[in-house]
Amino acid sequence: MMRHATFRQLEVFEAIARLGNFTRASEELHLTQPTVSMQMKKLSDAVGLPLFEQIGRQIQLTDAGRELAVTAREILQSLENYDMAVAEMQGLKKGKLRLTVSTTAKYFAPRMLGEFSAMHPGIEVSLKVTNRQKVLDRVAENLDDLYILCQPVSHIDLVARPFLENLLVVLAHPDHPLAKERNIPIERLAQEPFLIREVGSGTRMSVEQAFAAHGVKLNIRMELGSNEAIKQAILGKLGISVLSSQTLGEGPGEPVVLDVQGFPIVRQWHIAYPSGKQLSVVAKAFLEYLWDNVIPADKDTEFVTAESRLGR
Ligand code: PGA
Repeated sequence: MMRHATFRQLEVFEAIARLGNFTRASEELHLTQPTVSMQMKKLSDAVGLPLFEQIGRQIQLTDAGRELAVTAREILQSLENYDMAVAEMQGLKKGKLRLTVSTTAKYFAPRMLGEFSAMHPGIEVSLKVTNRQKVLDRVAENLDDLYILCQPVSHIDLVARPFLENLLVVLAHPDHPLAKERNIPIERLAQEPFLIREVGSGTRMSVEQAFAAHGVKLNIRMELGSNEAIKQAILGKLGISVLSSQTLGEGPGEPVVLDVQGFPIVRQWHIAYPSGKQLSVVAKAFLEYLWDNVIPADKDTEFVTAESRLGR
């Protein structure tokens, strides 16, 4: 019976589930390993089913364990939310904001967080950057307060609101023969060696959809796990690619944008959270910051879509 479990046990369990490992959880919580093991034994007994499976040196959660990780996070986050609400009653905005963004958002999210932190010095922020699929996995595990990603998905119930455009452009080395051409047909790109992001990347997903829609088969030369690596490979003349224009810096030494029909692909950055999630005072403060500083007032009506259920 879960009523026999303690908060401490849930806290230890949540850390193990998140870190995937007893040792790191005991370090994070400043507990000894035997204490952690004993607490987890008691917790499994209370549940009546094993919570972990040991696969080699890796700990994996059982179905009961995964379910408990989500429940434990809800309980612990509710308590944190309560602390933040009390701080607010005392006139303070205090607490932690956990934000996870998909990789391309790293070109603007840190600056937004910097500005937000300057406005609310009592708020501690943590930013995790990973690809779209991993962002969605974190949503399912209820690991963060808010998420930034492109085009929210239909299979997870997310409250999401667009706040910024993300334009995907075709990039090539400045010396590339196509750099001088105008209005290049998309079919022409099939001849070029193409550099593509890893499976799980939202950029890759959009690129594949766009080319498939035109019946163009990409000539994939290489798969690379980051936008930066792709940029460097373009500069190394390994091929062309399609990336967010936000990855481009100023001045020389950057890839150039090719003038291809059907480009840019226009995507929208969304701020999102699972529907039904109780937002903390701090998460609400961040949303307010976005509305007041990032979303242009005149764009407001344009952004009201079926997906935009986010109240102010
Ligand atoms: P990604 O980011 O390509 O790193 O996944 C963009 C997105 O979320 O679509």
